[in-house]
Amino acid sequence: MADQSITDRAKMPVAYNPVLERRTVENANRNLLTYLRPGLSVLDVGCGSGAITRSIAEKTGPTGYVLGIDPSPTLIEQATQQAHTLPGLSFQQADVYSFDTTERFDLVTCARTLQWLAQPKAALLTMKRLVKPGGYLAILDFNHEKITWTPEPPQAMRLFYDAFLRWRQDAGFDNAIADNLKELMYDVGFPTVQVSEQFERTQKSESDFSVVSRLWSEVAELRGPQLVESGYITESQRQLAITEYDYWIATTGESMTVYLLAVEAQHPV
Ligand SMILES: C[S@@+](CC[C@H](N)C(=O)[O-])C[C@H]1O[C@@H](n2cnc3c(N)ncnc32)[C@H](O)[C@@H]1O
Repeated sequence: MADQSITDRAKMPVAYNPVLERRTVENANRNLLTYLRPGLSVLDVGCGSGAITRSIAEKTGPTGYVLGIDPSPTLIEQATQQAHTLPGLSFQQADVYSFDTTERFDLVTCARTLQWLAQPKAALLTMKRLVKPGGYLAILDFNHEKITWTPEPPQAMRLFYDAFLRWRQDAGFDNAIADNLKELMYDVGFPTVQVSEQFERTQKSESDFSVVSRLWSEVAELRGPQLVESGYITESQRQLAITEYDYWIATTGESMTVYLLAVEAQHPV
């Protein structure tokens, strides 16, 4: 039987998640701008609280159809509550491994979600099946091993970050998934695959540097308790990582670049 603490690692904590809520297509999924137009049908897999999904629905308009799915009942509840003013937008609690519908979509998008799946190939096979002939599958994901900070973050945050990567790896998640996606897309039968860099760089001169670079304090706040509970770090190490990293942001921190790739393919007609 699977160890419950490991199978729970992909679950988003129930607390309000400011990282997910500030995302839009423009600032966090701009690879989709090539595809989005009024009237399109779009499936957003691992939609979280639906911030990017709402932004997609604004672009597909009242003649479009946008469905966001996520296994978290809390996130789907939040997403549904905030969706009411947008026609053509709906949300459903579902897991990508078991999700099915007779609908086929012009675009299936999956952002920052395969990084949390121990069987990304099985998920890609489901998603490929849900794309219309001639439609597109657009994946966006991280290589967490290639993040860069200038200068290096404080030791306490480095310790937290390394523990976070080990905790993820031990659950079967691929920390470098962005760089392995092209091969996986070929494996599930796409003949041609496009890869584009979508690095997210934030620097001190920008007004939102302190908000964007704080991502890792937010991860330590939201996900950190799970690492403490499973013995990867202590509570005082978690708290020190947050305090020292926040100080780094306010003082010596200059920039942070998160490594993300968009990996996209067209379903053969
Ligand atoms: C980091 S969030 C990404 C949210 C959003 N796509 C974004 O880019 O902001 C990852 C999401 O994947 C969802 N997730 C985890 N396991 C999943 C599964 N088996 N099927 C579908 N979604 C899953 C989580 O609940 C979470 O909302």
